[in-house]
Amino acid sequence: MQHIDLKKIADGSLVGKTVTVCGWVRTSRDSKNVAFAELNDGTMLNHVQIVFDKADFNDKALAGVLSLGAAISVTGTVEKGLKAESVEIRAKSVELLGASDQSYPLQKKRHTMEYLRTIPHLRVRTNTFNAVFRVRSELSYAIHEYFHKNGYYYVHSPIITGSDCEGAGEVFKVTTVGFNPKIKSEDEYNAADFFGRSAGLTVSGQLEGEVMATALGRIYTFGPTFRAENSNTPRHAAEFWQIEPEVAFADINDIIEIATDMIKYIIRHLLDNCKAELEFFDARFENGLIAKLQNVADSDFARVDYTDAVEILKKSGKSFVYPVEWGLDLQTEHERYLTDEYFKKPVFVVNYPRKIKSFYMKQNPDGKTVAATDLLVPGVGEIIGCSEREADYDKLLVEIKSRGMKLSDYENYLDLRKYGSVPHSGFGLGLERILMYVTGMANIRDTIEFPRTKDELR
Ligand code: 4AD
Ligand code: MG
Repeated sequence: MQHIDLKKIADGSLVGKTVTVCGWVRTSRDSKNVAFAELNDGTMLNHVQIVFDKADFNDKALAGVLSLGAAISVTGTVEKGLKAESVEIRAKSVELLGASDQSYPLQKKRHTMEYLRTIPHLRVRTNTFNAVFRVRSELSYAIHEYFHKNGYYYVHSPIITGSDCEGAGEVFKVTTVGFNPKIKSEDEYNAADFFGRSAGLTVSGQLEGEVMATALGRIYTFGPTFRAENSNTPRHAAEFWQIEPEVAFADINDIIEIATDMIKYIIRHLLDNCKAELEFFDARFENGLIAKLQNVADSDFARVDYTDAVEILKKSGKSFVYPVEWGLDLQTEHERYLTDEYFKKPVFVVNYPRKIKSFYMKQNPDGKTVAATDLLVPGVGEIIGCSEREADYDKLLVEIKSRGMKLSDYENYLDLRKYGSVPHSGFGLGLERILMYVTGMANIRDTIEFPRTKDELR
């Protein structure tokens, strides 16, 4: 259909010209001499007002056109609007493309986020979700742009895998075998299955990313990852998107620098390209959001050793629900204290105890810790999990065995340490986690189009 995006007429350059626009009616008003419809077509946050002069449009011509949610196409003249810098369209003709009746679930009032989650197919027609998903798109673009500009190759890691990268036992099974009373053991079950072995949805593209990086040098993956996390928190989704760069000839300090550089780059990109959306989030969801992002783009991130972080937490005088002890993982409440109250900015917590982290992380000379870091940010907690990888064949082999992992699943991975092993490092950035941070959305469910969480699949 020939028409022009509302965004393209918003700057006023087409005032006086005749255009055809399409969109959905967000609000409308009707009076004796004139009727108004606020139109949105998804190309920008603001609506454009359509003015129908009743002398030109009788009730029949406007039938259904003013209903909330209706899809219409309007041809008319672009005029200066009443509000500063706004434009409106004085309609010459209108076509009802898709009617919407009184049962339309998005009425004029402000709906709760919980209610909107029950209508994932319509919530994107609200200002909030329109803005969230535009920012999600722009953020994804900026991530690709950052890596492309810096000489990384975009690689596609498989969705179906035979290994559990994080070893946390959160793999969703992929199977074509249903209930069968003849199958008596797990081995028989796996043998009867599609791949002749057990398979699952990937929790991370890292293991394949390492394969690619140890030939192409610098790579990144950007795709969906899946975790059957049995926790119902505002920060965990069963399906989430991860960006995982992997870099050959890079140690832990190099990769921390890369992660910092990338975060700053994408935040600057949003400040430059999503001004209206960020202003909207600043006003509605997180006061001071823009100043926060500006600050992140312009200043250094903090860095603290895990061991020192534990001391900071112990001395905080706070009574945490979960214990603080060297060797225990940091819980959300601990992360939040470090970022929100102590450092008040993004912080890399470095050198975690080996026992609480994944098998592939490079062992530090102390034998107790690994060259791994999490990037924690105020308001959200962990957004990046990062490490230098163990490049030593023997150490890795011992680690795999001592964790009771199935050696046959990791033979190819071990081979990388046998043939031309190099120091290499990488990280995983959770797309929805950083979206929470840049939009002020308090719940991960409100950063992804169709959230999948425990007991929720719409
Ligand atoms: O810290 P994680 O588990 O690290 C990895 O998976 C590594 N293999 C990454 C790598 O080094 N290539 O996960 C990485 C990030 C987390 O920091 C978090 O942002 C996000 O993925 N994440 C989740 N996001 C939403 N819901 C979940 N259930 C998530 N689990 C992890
Ligand atoms: Mg992690």
